[in-house]
Parts: sequence; C-alpha cells; structure tokens
Amino acid sequence: MEMHIALVPGDGIGPDIVKEAVKTIDKVAKVYGHTVSYREVDAGGVSIDKYKVPLTEDALQTAAESDAVLLGAVGGPKWDHVPGNLRPEKALLGLRSGLGLFCNLRPAVIYPELSDASPLKPSVISEGVDLLVVRELTGGIYFGEKGRSNDGKSAYDVMRYSVPEIERIARKAFEAARIRKKRVTVVDKANVLETSRLWRETVSEIAREYDDISLDFMYVDNASMQLVRDPKHFDVLLTENMFGDILSDEASMITGSIGMLASASLRDDKFGMYEPIHGSAPDIAGKNIANPIATILSAAMMFRYSFSLEDEAKAIENAVASALSDGIRTRDIAAEGEKAIGTTECGDEIIRRIG
Ligand code: IPM
Ligand code: MG
Repeated sequence: MEMHIALVPGDGIGPDIVKEAVKTIDKVAKVYGHTVSYREVDAGGVSIDKYKVPLTEDALQTAAESDAVLLGAVGGPKWDHVPGNLRPEKALLGLRSGLGLFCNLRPAVIYPELSDASPLKPSVISEGVDLLVVRELTGGIYFGEKGRSNDGKSAYDVMRYSVPEIERIARKAFEAARIRKKRVTVVDKANVLETSRLWRETVSEIAREYDDISLDFMYVDNASMQLVRDPKHFDVLLTENMFGDILSDEASMITGSIGMLASASLRDDKFGMYEPIHGSAPDIAGKNIANPIATILSAAMMFRYSFSLEDEAKAIENAVASALSDGIRTRDIAAEGEKAIGTTECGDEIIRRIG
C-alpha cells in the first residue's frame, strides 16, 4: 500500500517522540512491503515563531491532503504570554476542527509488566484494566462562544451540543463496544447541565439500534472516583469534550504513566490524526528522556484505523508488549533502582522486535 503521512512534530518533546514513531512506521513498511511518504507540517509554538500564527492555512491544507496525520505535542512556557486565540494549543484545536475529527479514541490498557508503575494497589488492578475513552472532540465548551465583559471583570465559555453531534459520536462508541466488552457508560453531569440531559436522551435513542450493547450513565464526579476505585468496571466511556480530556489523563495514570497512552482522532471516513495524549513536556525536550511509546502506539492505531492494516498494527503493539516484558523502560516507567534507557534506545528496542 502507498501511504501519505503528514508529520506534525510540534514543540517540546514532540520532535523526539515523532522521530521514534517514524522509525517504527518505516520498519513496518519495510517488513510488510508498503511505501510511505512524509510531509512535515509546522504547528504550535514552532509555527508561531516562524509565521506568527499557531496554524497556517498551508499547514492545514497539507494535513488535509494526506491520508493520515501523526502529531507529537504542542505548547510550552515560551508561548504562555501570547493571547488566548494565538496560543500553540489553538493549532491542535484548529487541526481537529478543520479536519472534522469529531471522534477521539483513547484506549487505556494496563500491561501486566507495568503493574508496579501504577499508583493503584495491586488488588485493584489485579484483574487488569482495559478501557476506551470515546471523547467528543470538536464541540462542547472547547468550541463554544467565549469572551469577556467590557470591563474585563467577567468571562464566559459556552457549552453547546446539537443532537447530530451527539448521535454521531454515540454511534462510534457503540460500534467500538461491539468489538470489545459490549458495555457503554455515558459520563456526564446530567444532574446540573442541560447539555448532559440532551446527551442522555440522544444516546438512549441511538442505543435502540444497538440492543446487544448495555448502556449506563454516570455523573462525572462519580466516574472519576470509580475509575480509581474499580477501573475494571469500565469498558467504553462515552463523554463530551472536556470531561474526556480530564478522564483520559486520569485513566492514563492508572496504567502507570501518561507516556503510554495513544489516541486516534477520527471522522466518518478513513482519515485520522494520531497523537499521544500527553503534552510537550518542555522540561525534558531534546534530552533523550521522553517515553516514545504513546506515539509509537498511536502509529499502530494509524495502521488500524486509516489503513485497515490490522496485522501491522498488532505487530507494533506486540513489539511494545515484548519490549516491556523484556524490561525495556524509559525513566517515567522504571521502578526504583531499575535501569532506564533513552528515547532513541527505546525506539530501537521496539523496532528490533518487529518482523
Ligand atoms: C489533549 C490535550 C489538549 C486538549 C490541549 C493541549 C488543548 O490536553 O489532547 O488531551 O485539551 O484536548
Ligand atoms: Mg488532555
């Protein structure tokens, strides 16, 4: 297969980790006989430095013309002083909305070898954790009207959802559940928020098309507590944009490190953007310390969702699992006294186990 991938390394550790994911994609392509071409795109702080805006029309265009986008991370203290609408994060939001990527899949799986890295007690995670956060990505409070009053003494961010926006993400969640444990939990705040009540009504309607899937609802405060009390209770968590942002960071830590969680941002065709859920970690940028696994696993998701190449996706996931079980650890997942290796070496160890 011929694949055209747009690379958005971004800021901080972004370039370090994207480099390892590219090495992995190249290795898979070689082993399975695919051709890959890359086009690099500036977005985030690097783009602000070069072009004074976080995302240029050209950058968005290049991303849109590709088959899939692989993104590292954006942002950093260097750009903290820029006005809100020009912040590096705007690049990410611009890509997500500009490319129509409304469905964000964030799987959290605990590797048995890493159970020591989880802050939860062994008894809580002994039966494993394997959940999927399905986060609505192009609506809600992130994209609603926002502003300040004239005197600057009050500010607002509007959370708005339409029925079609809820319907399309609900379908994605039910379909994902169908090939998992067939359980969807909608996380909301329906005891307070009108948008949440609309979510409950709409998802309940859609659920009638999926009578093989069980559906329940949970308030977000309770869900964030249940996630650490009994994570195995969950299969698919379906939620709006901001709750999904928060819950996926929490879910990642259950697995041992935020450096492990991959994500896919999808729409209704094969196109997708793939990125680790973590940020740009500017304090460790360029030091060969960052954990590249979340980005490498995001590349696996790219093979799965954008190219429908399941064997290739599995080959990457198996290589990661085998590296972990052989004791390969970056600093964030190394136990006390355990040897930690660098970003590049971790990437090498993973690609060595492919093919
Ligand atoms: C994420 C990040 C982004 C988000 C930020 C950087 C805008 O936290 O992908 O989870 O909130 O979506
Ligand atoms: Mg986040």
